[in-house]
Amino acid sequence: MKTLVFPGTFDPITNGHIDIIMRSLRLCDHLYVAIAKSSRKQPIFPIEERIELACLATKKLTNITIEAFDGLVVSYVEQKEAHAVIRGLRASSDFEYELQMAMINRKIHPDIETLFLIPNEEYSYLTSSSIKELATFGADVKRFVPSDVADRLLERYKKTPS
Ligand code: COA
Repeated sequence: MKTLVFPGTFDPITNGHIDIIMRSLRLCDHLYVAIAKSSRKQPIFPIEERIELACLATKKLTNITIEAFDGLVVSYVEQKEAHAVIRGLRASSDFEYELQMAMINRKIHPDIETLFLIPNEEYSYLTSSSIKELATFGADVKRFVPSDVADRLLERYKKTPS
């Protein structure tokens, strides 16, 4: 049984992340979407809400588990007895950061591979930060994120306008 782990902050989950999830599911029997607490990034959504939004966005999918993790990605992968880490590569600008992370992970755990998937070009420019910025200024973000996420962003920025 092939098991993969897709780690990230998912603050919030976007259509680009969903695209990577769908592609990953074609390659494995089970996928763990591992949501990092990422306190240093000061996420706008608490971990419980990021999990809830990811669960809502993937409720029609099978063979997927969404949960929080804290600590090293490779420790989580080991704990799940998974075979590889999935990361999305959207543009060459992602490469340096991703290469560094993959190399460090390999140094500390040589048996765990990192697989890079290329999202649909429609999503190659998406980041969670840009979507949050659009939402701050009241722009419609429905085409970039699942509908529950768009609603939650709208609610959130109505409460705390910039
Ligand atoms: N579609 C849309 N956006 C995407 C995307 C895609 N397919 N792939 C990445 N992104 C965006 C994210 O939304 C995020 O945007 P933001 O910075 O504007 O918020 C950005 O790309 C990168 O975020 P993410 O993929 O979530 O990575 P991250 O750097 O926040 O976290 C972890 C990656 C979770 C693996 C890492 O930070 C972590 O916590 N590791 C644990 C510690 C560890 O193991 N360290 C050793 C390795 S150095």
